[in-house]
Amino acid sequence: MERPSPILQLIALFLLPYLLSHNLANTTIDLKTDESSLLAFKSHITNDSFDPTLRKNWTTKTSICNWIGVTCGSRHRRVIALNISYMFLEGTIPPHIGNLSFLVYLNITGNLFHGDLPNELAHLRRLRVLDFSNNSFAGELPRTWLGNMTDGLEELHLNDNSFNGIIIL
Ligand SMILES: *[C@@H]1O[C@H](CO)[C@@H](O)[C@H](O)[C@H]1NC(C)=O
Ligand SMILES: *[C@@H]1O[C@H](CO)[C@@H](O)[C@H](O)[C@H]1NC(C)=O
Ligand SMILES: *[C@@H]1O[C@H](CO)[C@@H](O)[C@H](O)[C@H]1NC(C)=O
Ligand SMILES: *[C@@H]1O[C@H](CO)[C@@H](O)[C@H](O)[C@H]1NC(C)=O
Ligand SMILES: *[C@@H]1O[C@H](CO)[C@@H](O)[C@H](O)[C@H]1NC(C)=O
Ligand SMILES: *[C@@H]1O[C@H](CO)[C@@H](O)[C@H](O)[C@H]1NC(C)=O
Ligand SMILES: *[C@@H]1O[C@H](CO)[C@@H](O)[C@H](O)[C@H]1NC(C)=O
Ligand SMILES: *[C@@H]1O[C@H](CO)[C@@H](O)[C@H](O)[C@H]1NC(C)=O
Repeated sequence: MERPSPILQLIALFLLPYLLSHNLANTTIDLKTDESSLLAFKSHITNDSFDPTLRKNWTTKTSICNWIGVTCGSRHRRVIALNISYMFLEGTIPPHIGNLSFLVYLNITGNLFHGDLPNELAHLRRLRVLDFSNNSFAGELPRTWLGNMTDGLEELHLNDNSFNGIIIL
């Protein structure tokens, strides 16, 4: 078999590991951001005694891409979908949710989340589907960020909560 040219060997020896580690480091950092966002989300769940599946499953022992309800992109391995519908979870939505910058699909219908929706949701520029229906959210509808989000948003479900006010788009 023919040996690879010296220049190729040089690339293989020095450049490739450098490029790989550089990229891997970046991916790891980004995944850590997604992980800390999801852990913050988990820490704001105050009651899961009806169904403790999520608390038991969302542990740092495995990659977030294996966590129940979490879908990662096949190429960049960032969180693109979060579907934790009908898990009977009680709690609030922390601002850290706005750090899941690759999120396209967010579905938390059929839980008991309450409180306000954080303004940081407006940071989710790639979001297409948002289903917060059938929870216990209350207060004023956050018109400002909803207005900003509607550019990309294709589906928005807020029914069966206790919001006040109307949306002016
Ligand atoms: C991440 O990648 C970018 C561009 O590829 C580079 O400029 C940056 O220094 C990298 N960051 C780390 C922490 O490796
Ligand atoms: C927690 O949830 C369970 C099951 O849904 C419920 O029976 C219980 O009353 C809740 N506890 C509190 C403190 O709200
Ligand atoms: C979490 O659930 C997924 C999907 O059911 C499973 O593949 C994974 O092993 C579970 N992880 C833990 C730590 O239970
Ligand atoms: C969301 O999760 C529920 C319950 O785990 C499942 O039945 C449903 O198919 C999922 N929907 C999507 C779009 O992944
Ligand atoms: C995520 O968002 C929170 C609140 O919006 C912020 O304080 C925090 O610095 C962010 N964390 C990371 C790792 O970007
Ligand atoms: C959210 O999840 C529920 C249950 O899995 C499903 O019935 C509903 O269609 C989903 N909502 C959207 C907008 O995909
Ligand atoms: C709302 O979610 C609860 C579970 O939290 C479920 O029992 C109930 O059937 C849902 N209601 C509707 C109208 O989907
Ligand atoms: C909405 O968009 C405008 C213009 O891009 C910006 O100035 C404003 O800060 C945004 N508001 C929120 C809540 O993101």
